[in-house]
Amino acid sequence: MSSLRALCVIFILCCSVMRTVTSHEFYDLKPVKLGCEVRGIDIGHPVPMRVIEQIKQDVTEHRILIFKDQHEISPKRHVRISRWFGDLESSFFTQHPKSPLRDIYRASNDKSEGIRPVGNEEFHTDCLYLPKVCSHGIYQMVNGSKEAESAFVPLSEIVEGLTKEQRNRWERLWMVVQQTTRVVHPLIYSHPGSNEKVFFLPTDYTVAFEWDRGNSKTRRLTEPEETSQIRNEIHDVFTEHLKDLQYIHKWEVGDFIISDNQAVAHCASPSSQKPRTEVGLRVLHRVTVAGKEAPEKKYISPSLERKTEL
Ligand SMILES: [Fe+2]
Repeated sequence: MSSLRALCVIFILCCSVMRTVTSHEFYDLKPVKLGCEVRGIDIGHPVPMRVIEQIKQDVTEHRILIFKDQHEISPKRHVRISRWFGDLESSFFTQHPKSPLRDIYRASNDKSEGIRPVGNEEFHTDCLYLPKVCSHGIYQMVNGSKEAESAFVPLSEIVEGLTKEQRNRWERLWMVVQQTTRVVHPLIYSHPGSNEKVFFLPTDYTVAFEWDRGNSKTRRLTEPEETSQIRNEIHDVFTEHLKDLQYIHKWEVGDFIISDNQAVAHCASPSSQKPRTEVGLRVLHRVTVAGKEAPEKKYISPSLERKTEL
């Protein structure tokens, strides 16, 4: 009898240990096309440190967490949640007069309410022109218009889907970004959290590419024509994968999204910019978290085996 009781105690202890390491103990995760919806937790109020650690882990694993029904997240709380992930980076955006706090970027389809138009030109990674690219974008839909949508595309799947030749070429490329500073990033690099291979989409601020940075014999900058050819090549590959990979989020009031800025490219849909008179008022708050390290390749590049150019 006593040994049976001992077995029961061991069983209960095991269950208890298992609960503390199960990612679904603190909230429900429902996978969507990219990332997960999160229910059963109110992050508008303080949560224990172990829950915060679980959320950070889940963001790295799933890349986007969409917290539903979060109606009590004040601007101050939004900023506090963002600080779970590190220091904030607010130096690169203009503040709207109605922005409640310096660290909150306020976007809207009505310029008297927030900055417009914003984020809908093309898919991108935020603050690409900083030496340490922002690690997370954290969004709250304060007022949802009828057609407010954001699209997200996972980047590591695209790297994995490259042909051997494309991969060899892309591994040799660095991207020169000119905005406030001239920053050079490897086109393909190791994600700082997951170590997955990810890449940057060139933007209007990509002024050139550099072949074979670090190899004094073959290193060279591209001229404008070649820059534009490479830019188009990268965008063509991205577009090829877009339909299969993109997740389009239809915003609802109470949605609070934590997105891994280096794991996914994002873009606001054109419909989100429609005028207030047509679709109602849209107000989105965003906080960005500063990157902790400059992007780098933490692996031996396969392109070292063979070199090909355009
Ligand atoms: Fe953005």
